Amino acid sequence: MKEKKEIQALKNEYPLLNQLISLQESFWINPKLEKYPIGIKKATLSQQDVNDAENRLMRFAPYLAKAFPETKEAKGLIESPLARIPTMKQFIERDTHQGIPGELLLKCDSHLPISGSIKARGGIYEILKHAEDLALHNGMLKVEDDYSIIDNEEFRSFFSQYSIAVGSTGNLGLSIGIISAKLGFNVSVHMSADAQTWKKDLLRSKKVDVIEYADDYSKAVEEGRLQAAKDPRCYFVDDESSRDLFLGYAVAASRLQKQLEQMEIKIDEDHPLFVYLPCGVGGGPGGVAFGLKLLFGDHVHCFFAEPTHSPCMLIGLLTGLHDQISVQDVGIDNVTEADGLAVGRPSGFAGKMMESILSGSYTVSDKKLYKMLTALADTEGFHLEPSALAGMIGPEKLLTEGTGYLQDHHLKEKMNNSTHVIWGTGGSMVPEEIMNQYYQKGYDSGKK
Ligand SMILES: Cc1ncc(COP(=O)(O)O)c(C=O)c1O
Repeated sequence: MKEKKEIQALKNEYPLLNQLISLQESFWINPKLEKYPIGIKKATLSQQDVNDAENRLMRFAPYLAKAFPETKEAKGLIESPLARIPTMKQFIERDTHQGIPGELLLKCDSHLPISGSIKARGGIYEILKHAEDLALHNGMLKVEDDYSIIDNEEFRSFFSQYSIAVGSTGNLGLSIGIISAKLGFNVSVHMSADAQTWKKDLLRSKKVDVIEYADDYSKAVEEGRLQAAKDPRCYFVDDESSRDLFLGYAVAASRLQKQLEQMEIKIDEDHPLFVYLPCGVGGGPGGVAFGLKLLFGDHVHCFFAEPTHSPCMLIGLLTGLHDQISVQDVGIDNVTEADGLAVGRPSGFAGKMMESILSGSYTVSDKKLYKMLTALADTEGFHLEPSALAGMIGPEKLLTEGTGYLQDHHLKEKMNNSTHVIWGTGGSMVPEEIMNQYYQKGYDSGKK
């Protein structure tokens, strides 16, 4: 908890903090953004690390194709479509009276196989890496092997000697729980109060131990960490500072690059790419943004999006205090219906990695998330969960409140050639009945 005096000093130094505290939607341009070659030097990970993660996922592809038949067609790749959403773009333009030059695309991580959210990238990757480390170390596996051999009783019995723990608002727990249980690990998921009942039920049906807390995400993580520390055979997936989770997300960048090429969409000095990423603790969007910067350098501009009630990463970056400050410290309640983003304290690791490469960040009200949810379903037929819509208002925000950024980076005259990618981070596993309720909520709020 911070002292009142300390908070007052922060408010004086960073007036935007007052706006965030009053829960108004806000837009922030990162004053510490550096030119790519300088900014990227501050990162503690490199392209080599991302390549290493990509190669590991390739080694596991035969296993995934066998153990999860839904990945068979993509040969064991956990990947999602990149879709053009012109009708949604028209809706936003009509609704906001703001033209959006360039093309609007949706990266459908909402439809990633196995666990239906961006967390399928990092979460599954980290468990596969841990499983590989154990199997290699114990002479069960060689990197040259066809990893489909892992889908058998001998491996499941071997992994059953070990356990996995994770703290989650829901989607990370789903990803870690599903893959760990499939491999044969004993797995405990520590769920925050925000986690949806259906996610807990689904995990329990897969024999995952679900532990519920009446508290928020930070508490669930803390408890998971404590439990794991007591057991040397327990591996803790640390959403607040895991390098492996981060790298699993970063692999998305080269996949997106290929999809853009296939769609004949150019990204270069005259064709800028803008990417809008929903942010909770920061690892997911951080990893993707990091991977994109490595590939596109100054031609990509990444923005994070958080609920007005949970702007933890924005406050951490704005004040430079990262994980040394929470939204509760400044009197914000961290109560949002965007359950995946209901995080009060950001990852210090992700925040520091982003400090010199992130273009900016903004907040969005829950009401707007629902409005966008319903509009996207109506216009394009995509059904996403509320958190996953946080990116959708990004282009309009940038074009109205981020004109200074466009000017400073000589982008104004290039906007007709621009591409906006909204990262749609979750939704395909939401039960139909709950999705209908989300839809109705957005529909009703539109009528008011
Ligand atoms: C749907 C959805 N979007 C975005 C995120 C944000 O990811 P992170 O918490 O790594 O910032 C989450 C996190 O659980 C999520 O569930």
